[in-house]
Amino acid sequence: MRHLLNPLDFTVEETAQLLDLAGDIERNPSKYAHVCDGKKLATLFYEPSTRTRLSFEAAMLNLGGSVLGFSSADSSSAAKGESVADTIRVISCYADICAMRHPKEGAPLVAATHSTIPVINAGDGGHQHPTQTLTDLLSIRSLKGRLDNLTIGLCGDLKFGRTVHSLINALVRYENIRFVLISPPELRIPEYIREDVLKAHNIDFVEIDNLDEAMPELDILYMTRVQKERFFNEEDYIRLKDCYILDKKKMKLAKKDMFILHPLPRVNEISVEVDNDPRAAYFKQAQYGVYVRMALIMTLLEVEKPC
Ligand code: CP
Repeated sequence: MRHLLNPLDFTVEETAQLLDLAGDIERNPSKYAHVCDGKKLATLFYEPSTRTRLSFEAAMLNLGGSVLGFSSADSSSAAKGESVADTIRVISCYADICAMRHPKEGAPLVAATHSTIPVINAGDGGHQHPTQTLTDLLSIRSLKGRLDNLTIGLCGDLKFGRTVHSLINALVRYENIRFVLISPPELRIPEYIREDVLKAHNIDFVEIDNLDEAMPELDILYMTRVQKERFFNEEDYIRLKDCYILDKKKMKLAKKDMFILHPLPRVNEISVEVDNDPRAAYFKQAQYGVYVRMALIMTLLEVEKPC
């Protein structure tokens, strides 16, 4: 039995197979409509979510399976003090696979050690978000036709943004990736990402605070929201929340074939006037999230690919 707790739980070859499967699902959805008949997915969400929870649910329904679960800690027995370890032992009796989001870093790992069903980390605190990373990799590969030889700008809250941490971890395994890390000094990437991931892999990267300066050289711009819920003090959040706003004027500085991604939800960091630009790919990215989660459920349940 396998879990997905970290984007590195799959090798580069396994990731490529999973993305290939997601691509086939996109092209031939009807072929997959019954591959999970009789299977159940539990969604255990201790933190708010729109895309991750509902795309997991859509994914399992598209495969012919069914879903059960809760969408907040308050509506589960966590509110009465039940531990993650006890909850997952019980859920293992009800479902075949589960996706868990939790505000505490490492909670899905605790669940996996007590589970008899595959556990998928659907986001743990400011730590990792591996299924968003698979979504991002599928988006980049589909839009640019490759996962190597790219200059990727990551902009916004690089300190608390778990999608950024997971994506950097995954992308350093591909050839000739260059990162332009754009943030205010207070929201720079954590030290362990800089030292243990980027420097340890000899990756070419710069840390800057000026988005305009970076725009002309980027193949992908990955915008992120300032993570209000992870700040200790509201004053800091208010000071930093609108530090970057991508608008039409800034888009004029970008290459014609650059794409903008964003894990969403957005607040103010991408002006709605950018949505109609053909390079704005963040809603398409949310669609890719369904295909990749369908492929992931099939892979972890060891469901045969139909002919
Ligand atoms: N991208 C993402 O994780 O969105 P949700 O918080 O809505 O699930």
